[in-house]
Amino acid sequence: MSTCTRREFVTTTVAAGIAVTGPRFARFADSRIEVLLDEPIGTIAPEIYGHFVEHLGGVVYDGVWVGEDSPIPNLGGVRRALVEALRPIRPAVMRWPGGCFADAYDWRDGVGPKSERPRRTNVWIDQSSLQGLGNVPAKYDPNHFGTNEFVRFCRLIGAEPYLAVNVRSLPPMAFFEWLEYCNSPAGSTSLAELRESGGDREPFGVRYWGIGNESWGCGGNFTPEEYASEYRRFATWSTPRYGVDLEFIGAGPSGRDLDWTRRFFEKMVERRELDRMWGWALHHYSSAPDGEAIAFDDTAWYDLLASADRMEEIVAAQWQVMGELDQEHRVKIVVDEWGAWHRMTTNVDPTHLFGQQSTIRDALVAGLTLDTFNRHADKVAMANIAQLVNCIQSLFLAHEDRFVLTPTYHVFSMYAAHQGATAVRVVASAPEAHWVDGEDRARSIWGLSGSASVRDGALTLTVTNPHLSESREAEIAIRGGSVRSVAAVTLVAGDVHDHNTFDAPDIVAPVRTRLQPGGSTLVHRFPAASVTKLEVTLGA
Ligand code: AHR
Repeated sequence: MSTCTRREFVTTTVAAGIAVTGPRFARFADSRIEVLLDEPIGTIAPEIYGHFVEHLGGVVYDGVWVGEDSPIPNLGGVRRALVEALRPIRPAVMRWPGGCFADAYDWRDGVGPKSERPRRTNVWIDQSSLQGLGNVPAKYDPNHFGTNEFVRFCRLIGAEPYLAVNVRSLPPMAFFEWLEYCNSPAGSTSLAELRESGGDREPFGVRYWGIGNESWGCGGNFTPEEYASEYRRFATWSTPRYGVDLEFIGAGPSGRDLDWTRRFFEKMVERRELDRMWGWALHHYSSAPDGEAIAFDDTAWYDLLASADRMEEIVAAQWQVMGELDQEHRVKIVVDEWGAWHRMTTNVDPTHLFGQQSTIRDALVAGLTLDTFNRHADKVAMANIAQLVNCIQSLFLAHEDRFVLTPTYHVFSMYAAHQGATAVRVVASAPEAHWVDGEDRARSIWGLSGSASVRDGALTLTVTNPHLSESREAEIAIRGGSVRSVAAVTLVAGDVHDHNTFDAPDIVAPVRTRLQPGGSTLVHRFPAASVTKLEVTLGA
């Protein structure tokens, strides 16, 4: 009997896994996916594929910023490898500077000549893992990466900046001045001149402004009523616009906390101020009880995916409550922190607070979450995975001159085609996966799930198979169109604990297969524990 490794098996079956059907193929399919081209949901906001960098651990210093004088290749101080990896995935928006850090940050510390910028205590200084590390930037921020450097980073990668405003420890005046610093016309104000002295004469035109962060927690521990009153002081009608369509984003709930949403919206409606808000930002992190990033067992595999899958219910429940008070749904959902949060046992450097490795399990978290956002394209206007590099669910790990892409990066690369396309309805049925969870309860999760979008005659269908050991063969019906050509991109691991390292960067990487064109029904085998993209060119 011949044997092959799981990766060889997967590569072979992926290559052979799709065919145009006749009845003989349909007979073997255990699953079915229908793509309903005539049932559009809405345009998938490119901003759903957004990112987040906080002055936390190794995200900014070591991850993004290496400094202009560094021997590490850089573009004006920003790590060149990071910029080059980000450009092809077209990040539409980047959130900064926090997180909890934002509510302790004074933007004035990060402008003007670098040699004159103050070193400040970082809000995360007391985390136990940072003790005994000396005066590292994770504890004492040198402020070398400030507003000008952040906006230039955004420009290098083609992203719009999204700034989080300090509501907890600075007055609204500091926000108005930051806005003036960023957006007032060249030469018009002293702050515009200060911006120019930092190298940027033309205004930044910053559009997205978050009014606080987690205002129910580290952002001030407010009640919803108190926060509504703070919000109104910051986002008033009289805030100068400098010709920019400012979009204010409120600090929404933790996960499914409907009380926070209802009470805040009630107060805003009562004062007729809801039109001062463009987006309502919720946060949802997923985790498994054992918390291990790599050394997880089967139970923790499914527990984590189920925890991530709660996003579906959270978005639906929040949207419903928002609609009770905002019947026209003028305010959209922003999920400005999401991702899989593990115990910190795999960070690549001790200064990388909350740093963790990423496996195919995290890739599935990314895939199923992005599919959820796509399916709710009419509700979700922006989302920001936390965080970009060296942190919770990162696309990259970097330390000194070393840099590697994680499986989560590959999912963003595979899913980039959805950005700006029209989401259409997908109906999937497949045998469920069953397990006993960490609390001894019998649980199940859907067998296949995904999303589809169309643009200019091209259909993108992305699908996750959460089953640890069973592949699924699905008959895929494209309702309302025919297929001219198909290609598959599949992300799967030889072993589900595999991960990419500086020394072995391509252990988990996508496999691309071109397939034969055919009619309107396909059969595709989705490997166990995989994320797949089908690129379909539609016929007339
Ligand atoms: O992303 C890490 C932290 O998680 C953020 O600073 C905070 O907003 C959240 O609690």
